[in-house]
Amino acid sequence: MIKPIRKAIFPVGGQGTRFLPATKAVPKELLPVVDRPLLQYAVDEAVAAGIEQMIFVTARGKASLEEYFDVAAELTASLKAKGKTAELAVLAETQLAPGRIAYVRQQEPAGLGHAVWCARLITGDEPFAVLLPDELLWSPEAPCLKTMVETYARLGGNVIAVLEIPAEQTHGFGIIDPGTVDGLVTEVVGLVEKPKQGTAPSRLAAIGRYILQPEVMTILAEGTRGAGNEIQLTDAMAQLIGVQPFHALTYTGRRFDCGDKAGHITANIALALERDDVGPAVRAFLAGIGTGD
Ligand code: G1P
Repeated sequence: MIKPIRKAIFPVGGQGTRFLPATKAVPKELLPVVDRPLLQYAVDEAVAAGIEQMIFVTARGKASLEEYFDVAAELTASLKAKGKTAELAVLAETQLAPGRIAYVRQQEPAGLGHAVWCARLITGDEPFAVLLPDELLWSPEAPCLKTMVETYARLGGNVIAVLEIPAEQTHGFGIIDPGTVDGLVTEVVGLVEKPKQGTAPSRLAAIGRYILQPEVMTILAEGTRGAGNEIQLTDAMAQLIGVQPFHALTYTGRRFDCGDKAGHITANIALALERDDVGPAVRAFLAGIGTGD
């Protein structure tokens, strides 16, 4: 029987050094893209995929994440008193019911695999999703994790999202060795984390969305270090290949790498352009850049 995906792990313990000085006081996951924190987009994607429980793997200095996801009682009361219904609706729409978020601390920055392993007692013997919030996957019609859950319901096992990237970028990603291809679904016969330039088995890169079987936690528990001397999720996943079904689903929506300043700025522009409230002003500004207005 294929067990449903009820839980999702969000590794949010990173220091965000690429966004200093902003990230001295604000976790990078709370930096806005237009007016929503980056993390909210990943949570929205998880909710759209039917995820019941969000597990945030945090670290020291990330306490404001808990504030953000809590009810802001004073704010709500004052908005009510002023009759600010639109603002109240925005808050209500992003509010998760009590118990739907759990927090775990990652006590040392030992890598993505280690961060995922920190959530093992909450995921238990269930399959689970992992979402890396830096990767803003914008596809409102077909949210990435939702399409993965549908593929998983058909094929079971492990499903990861991939995207074809330029060959000169493969050294920065987890790359799959592809087997049989069936439409957007590719069998995964190998996985390598950050392959050296010119050695990648394909140009299909993991883009931060995973559906994994609980056995990966047992492998992660061994604590084997890989690329960058970190405990790599990719290496643990690679050990499941041939033991359990393992497929990659090619993502067809838009991707913004918000772990990178240029990607974050691009995401702001792209999403702003789609909005009725700020879109026209941003479009007018961009149109003016070429003409020197
Ligand atoms: C992580 C993963 C890598 C994946 C990437 C996607 O790398 O280890 O396999 O391709 O996220 O963004 P990081 O960017 O954290 O170095």
